[in-house]
Amino acid sequence: MTAGLPLRPSAVKEFAMTSVILPQNPNLQEFVDLAGALATKASNAFAAASSLEELEEARIEYLGDQRGQLRSFQVALGRLPKEDRPQAGRQFNAVKQQISEAYETRKLELAASGASAPTLADPTMPARRQWRGAKHPVTLVIEEIEGIFRELGFTIATGPEAETEWYNFGSLNFPPNHPAMDLHDTLYLRGDVLLRTHTSPVQTRTLQRYAPPIRVLIPGRVYRRDFFDPSHAPAFEQIEGLCIDEGISFVDLKATLTRFANRFFGKRPTRFRPSFFPFTEPSAEMDVQCGVCGGAGCAVCKQTGWVEILGSGMVHPAVLEATGVDSERYTGWAFGMGPARIALSRYGIPDIRVLYDSDVRFLEQAAAQLSGKAPE
Ligand code: PHE
Repeated sequence: MTAGLPLRPSAVKEFAMTSVILPQNPNLQEFVDLAGALATKASNAFAAASSLEELEEARIEYLGDQRGQLRSFQVALGRLPKEDRPQAGRQFNAVKQQISEAYETRKLELAASGASAPTLADPTMPARRQWRGAKHPVTLVIEEIEGIFRELGFTIATGPEAETEWYNFGSLNFPPNHPAMDLHDTLYLRGDVLLRTHTSPVQTRTLQRYAPPIRVLIPGRVYRRDFFDPSHAPAFEQIEGLCIDEGISFVDLKATLTRFANRFFGKRPTRFRPSFFPFTEPSAEMDVQCGVCGGAGCAVCKQTGWVEILGSGMVHPAVLEATGVDSERYTGWAFGMGPARIALSRYGIPDIRVLYDSDVRFLEQAAAQLSGKAPE
């Protein structure tokens, strides 16, 4: 405020109401009196603030670091004669504390009452849509398969993704130097530890841990040195099944898996084709009729009319004996399937990679479709 500048009368009044003008070199008495006056004015100004924004303006006016009115008292304090400074200092500190407390008190009051100046918020603006997550299509398929097998008396088992060669291959009757153990097909971690290439090692772990009768379903992630292409992923889910008891035959295998397929795919024809796995004998691949073309042949089923859903077979006696189960007394069957592939054929998804891209646009669409709701 420069002297000589004409002021509007209202501005003069406002200035006089809010400011305490300290002479250039006050004496002790002036300092003490004026500091007291400042405390009163500041407290009144804080109490009069009707919003946090107004309170903040008042805080800057009185307590501001640079130009706050209290600051000028601090400067004046340093200019007082030495003998006056202790008393003036005490007054300064008392005033400072009083003003700060008045500020804090009002701040709490205003915050509690939720008062604030009219803000720019527009209460009529529509709320932001809540972002709701959903289960991944592969997770939904796994849960559905688990549910069907639970009804048939199976429990869930899991095992480690980092396995030893023995669990992944040796215990499952793979002859030493089987090509599946090749560096080109299996991801080795260190020594004979590798990323499991299938969930079958959990068959061995289950047989080691529990005595028959056994009925377990084993979901889990497996790894292979495959390129990511429309029908392969280097890491994918598998679901293994294992049933061991006295008197179990191939009839049980066919009946159980057919029942599963009918539940999961609806009443579509199924078929078993001879196959080979070192850990099952005999072995069979199971197909279900292509749901897209109804068996006539299309791109999805590669013109065959059938879609392969799993590999299976009677558990090889060598697998039972590897864990000390008496293969004369007990027999059983096992299967392994890839829920991602099943999700593809069930939902007509043309490329397996979309299941792993985490593209929210695809996932939102899938979630909406699977739950029967239109995407929001
Ligand atoms: N482990 C086999 C695979 O990954 C599948 C399978 C499991 C076959 C159990 C027969 C019995 O291809």
